Amino acid sequence: MAHPLEQLRDDALHEIESAADEQALEAARVKYLGRSGSVSAWGEQMKTLAKEEKPIVGKLLNEVRTAVTTAIDSRSAQFRSQRESGSLAKIDISLPGTPHEIGALHPLTQMWERSIEIFRRMGFALADGPDIEDGWHCFDALNTPPEHPARTEQDTFYLPDGRLLRTHTSTVQIRTMESTLPPIRVISPGAAYRNEEIDATHAAQFHQIEGLYVDENVSVADLKGALEFFMRELFGSGTEVQFRPHFFPFTEPSLEVYVKSKALKGGEQWIEVAGSGVVHPAVFEQVNKARGDKAYDPEKWSGYAFGLGMDRLAMILFDIPDLRLFAQNDLRFLRQFA
Ligand code: PHE
Repeated sequence: MAHPLEQLRDDALHEIESAADEQALEAARVKYLGRSGSVSAWGEQMKTLAKEEKPIVGKLLNEVRTAVTTAIDSRSAQFRSQRESGSLAKIDISLPGTPHEIGALHPLTQMWERSIEIFRRMGFALADGPDIEDGWHCFDALNTPPEHPARTEQDTFYLPDGRLLRTHTSTVQIRTMESTLPPIRVISPGAAYRNEEIDATHAAQFHQIEGLYVDENVSVADLKGALEFFMRELFGSGTEVQFRPHFFPFTEPSLEVYVKSKALKGGEQWIEVAGSGVVHPAVFEQVNKARGDKAYDPEKWSGYAFGLGMDRLAMILFDIPDLRLFAQNDLRFLRQFA
């Protein structure tokens, strides 16, 4: 005759097998394996059994418990996979997926990164300043008093409180010298603004890298060496670099930088890419006045500065015909640099 435990096992297995859903299965689990379930109750009953019966019933009880547990686990797995294939059934796996587009750097950003990397190799550190400036940092400190004609040439956008959008990154020269003692070797990449008629080569916002080097006995030769090295690293070793006399209020002498390279489209032409010069002693004097010391004594210190047009350089390097393309966010244009 079957032991009552075997009967219990058969009942349990049948109930588990025919459980209609997960709640029914859970009810069966509680009924048999729960703390006051019938399998557990047999465990209690073991204590009352005769000595010779204990090992036999104990062994049987273990087998029953294992059988019930295994049955519950496998039925539960069945329910789970039914649930999963149910939700998968709603997905049409034959549909093409949604592609994730990988972003890329804007050509101007690429230009900046290349340029900064070259200057870093020459030992230049990065400096920064605000786009919204006061007239003093943008003009007066750079030896350009209110009546100076350069101020009308560099017409910009003014805020009601008199502050302005900087017309060049040369403002960072002043800010760096205000806060740091010489010697100095910094570059400052950033945006500059002018009230321009917008066309293929003029924009109201453009981008520069300012450079400032202050030390003892800095000369035009140092300036030329640094910028020639930069241009050849950027445009190739066959690049010709020319310095033409110019005027900036904040440098003396002042030089415009032109490049010509057969490697570039339109390579037979000289193209202007930067303004530069030897820092005017009057600029040091203005800085000293603002600092309230003589840290930039023009008798001791000299320096060179330059301002590179990033948009212009990128147009040459990537053969871009129109400056406005940089700001139009047209993917057909941007994708070409990805
Ligand atoms: N700030 C000048 C410009 O924007 C360029 C320049 C920088 C010239 C430093 C000389 C020295 O046109």
